Amino acid sequence: MFFSLDPERAHEFVATLLGLAHRHEALRAMLGVDGREQLEVTALGRTFSSPVIVAAGFDKHAAMYNALYALGFGGVEVGTITAHAQPGNDRPRLFRLVEDRALINRMGFNNHGALRAREAILRHLPAAGLVLGINLGKSKVTPVEQAADDYAESARLLAPLAHYLVVNVSSPNTPGLRSLQAVDALEGIVRAVRAALDREGVSPPLLVKIAPDLADEDVDAIADLALREKLAGIIATNTTIARDELSLRTPRSAVAALGAGGLSGAPIRERSLAVLRRLYDRAGSRLTLVAAGGIETAEHAWQSVLSGATLVQVYTGFIYKGPSIARAITKGLREKLAASGFRTWSDAVGAATR
Ligand SMILES: Cc1cc2nc3c(=O)[nH]c(=O)nc-3n(C[C@H](O)[C@H](O)[C@H](O)COP(=O)(O)O)c2cc1C
Repeated sequence: MFFSLDPERAHEFVATLLGLAHRHEALRAMLGVDGREQLEVTALGRTFSSPVIVAAGFDKHAAMYNALYALGFGGVEVGTITAHAQPGNDRPRLFRLVEDRALINRMGFNNHGALRAREAILRHLPAAGLVLGINLGKSKVTPVEQAADDYAESARLLAPLAHYLVVNVSSPNTPGLRSLQAVDALEGIVRAVRAALDREGVSPPLLVKIAPDLADEDVDAIADLALREKLAGIIATNTTIARDELSLRTPRSAVAALGAGGLSGAPIRERSLAVLRRLYDRAGSRLTLVAAGGIETAEHAWQSVLSGATLVQVYTGFIYKGPSIARAITKGLREKLAASGFRTWSDAVGAATR
């Protein structure tokens, strides 16, 4: 039924329902969404009730996370949030490629700004047990040269509420943003964010989120930077601007007609996994790696774990599989871990590379 609706309208409809359940515990219970599948994983200084997290971009306004937790996700990464409120790009800006189990989006960080996100979180604090990640981006009005201050301002407002904080420099829909993945620029941002955290007297684990389109040497350089700056981890990956992994079931002319945007879902799985592997080769268990990109099943998630991920994120798979995805993947992962012979989760992490 949802797929007969315009994709963004379908999202808004679901967001309204999940928003109600977010704000009213009694509704969450009535919806019967509190039957959890558990697989406890310790990471980033927390215990996750499941290693499956909602990727950034789904709960952009920090208005659904408690309902998403009730659906069985161990964590929710809200945002991307920017220092300034902004409307994002003109609609239409979200497209389904059903044949490829993929999406293309050029949302452009539509959000109400860091101050309102802070108020929203303070009004409805995360349910006990939920791990709340907060993903920060650069405001469109802020010139790239002043990016560090823009991230720092968001961090000042939001870091005290975050269980972990993400510097997002990899979305393709804010002009110039991905240039911030260059080591010098990223170092400046990380240091400015750190200084803001110090001033606030808080120290949530800090991660960066990278694009699948980076050259291998750039992936290595970011892993090295993360180690040098003592970051907690890296999220790999965001969406891609490439289109070559799309099948020909979606005609190329139709894809081209959709215009610019980031491609997510099944077609990016392989490249995201390759980036993850590269990061693990470089940093091993010194960084907490979080996999994102085309994960739909427990088997996909398990491959990511064996390749080095401690946690996995889903967005596009959630759209195609529906609300049971967190429970299904968690259950499958528990079974795979039990059948694998590994004693603990951390024994499984990266095992395919050893
Ligand atoms: C509609 C949409 C909006 C997104 N918005 C954001 C965002 O605001 N910030 C971000 O870091 N990633 C964003 N992403 C990227 C996802 O978090 C994820 O990294 C990417 O889609 C790959 O995972 P997937 O294949 O499971 O969707 C968005 C993805 C989609 C599909």
